[in-house]
Amino acid sequence: MSVPLKNTLILGIETSCDETCAAVIKNGREVLSNVVYSQIDIHRKYGGVVPEIASRNHIERIDDVMEEALETAGVNLTEMDAVAVTYGPGLVGALLVGLSYGKALAYAAKKPLIAVHHIEGHICANYIADPCFTPPYVALVVSGGHTSFVCVNDYTEYTLLGSTRDDAAGEAFDKAARMLDLPYPGGVEIEKLAAGGNPHAVKFPRAATENPLDCSFSGLKSAVAGFIQKNRDFPKADIAASFQEAVADVLVGRAITACHMKNSKILSLSGGVAANKYIRRRMTEACEREGLFLQIPPIALCTDNAAMIASAGYFRFVNGEIAGLDLNAYPGLELTT
Ligand code: KG4
Ligand code: ZN
Repeated sequence: MSVPLKNTLILGIETSCDETCAAVIKNGREVLSNVVYSQIDIHRKYGGVVPEIASRNHIERIDDVMEEALETAGVNLTEMDAVAVTYGPGLVGALLVGLSYGKALAYAAKKPLIAVHHIEGHICANYIADPCFTPPYVALVVSGGHTSFVCVNDYTEYTLLGSTRDDAAGEAFDKAARMLDLPYPGGVEIEKLAAGGNPHAVKFPRAATENPLDCSFSGLKSAVAGFIQKNRDFPKADIAASFQEAVADVLVGRAITACHMKNSKILSLSGGVAANKYIRRRMTEACEREGLFLQIPPIALCTDNAAMIASAGYFRFVNGEIAGLDLNAYPGLELTT
């Protein structure tokens, strides 16, 4: 990929779920601003994200978030080289808010529009975290909507190696948390509770899959539900720790297998579940044992943000990949090259 001579500024927009985000990134790796407005407090009382409420809140917040992103970066819209926006996967109504907003900005300011896949954004968070990090490598993206093992051949070239057959790991965290009467979002709550529990107290299942790089968490979820029903007085911290251990075993095991199968000495871990310190530690230990280099973004770049979308947008932009203003939102968008 050729490197442009001048500094390139990309404005990123992300609204695929319950975070309204805008960011300005220089040359794909340097964060000038990264504004995240989280709707978690609004959705918490419903125990999960309510799509209609998410869309409405994006509409209410996106102007302010955008203004703050430009102001913090000390730039205006005319200085941008392109507008990059998430167009899938995600909640369709939520996606449409950011996409329509991005299209309107691009049209009004006569800037190119760049279409970004949300998982590609999570992968590109690694380029912000480490300015020297380059493909090829194996990436594990693990979030509320996805658990994907990807071979990153180049900045915009991916091969999907495997993914979850049912629930995403983050979804399993959120559902297990609900069974344990913990508030939404459950991942961080499980992590807190698990810190005081015994990870070997309950042997929850680690499901085998036909493709060794696929995974499955629905059996684990059912096992947790069944166990809680039969053992009402069992310490919740032990259940949380045992559940987290099972997820960690699956993710770490599959990630190492993926590196071996692809002959890769480099692994990246990103997405919301990569914010889990226990999983970060387990992955770090496993990579040290296996002689692999592990790249994990800081926690703020693991959960949804627009800096990662702007970074992905930069690499598409320098590749000349400009989207039309008829770009649509795709809730089930697959990751393709
Ligand atoms: O990447 P993300 O912000 O949004 C999606 O693309 O889905 O990930 C959100 C997911 C939620 O399921 C949340 O429970 C999980 O990431 N998560 C965690 C932690 N922090 C967020 N899971 C486990 N431990 C955490 N500390
Ligand atoms: Zn995400």
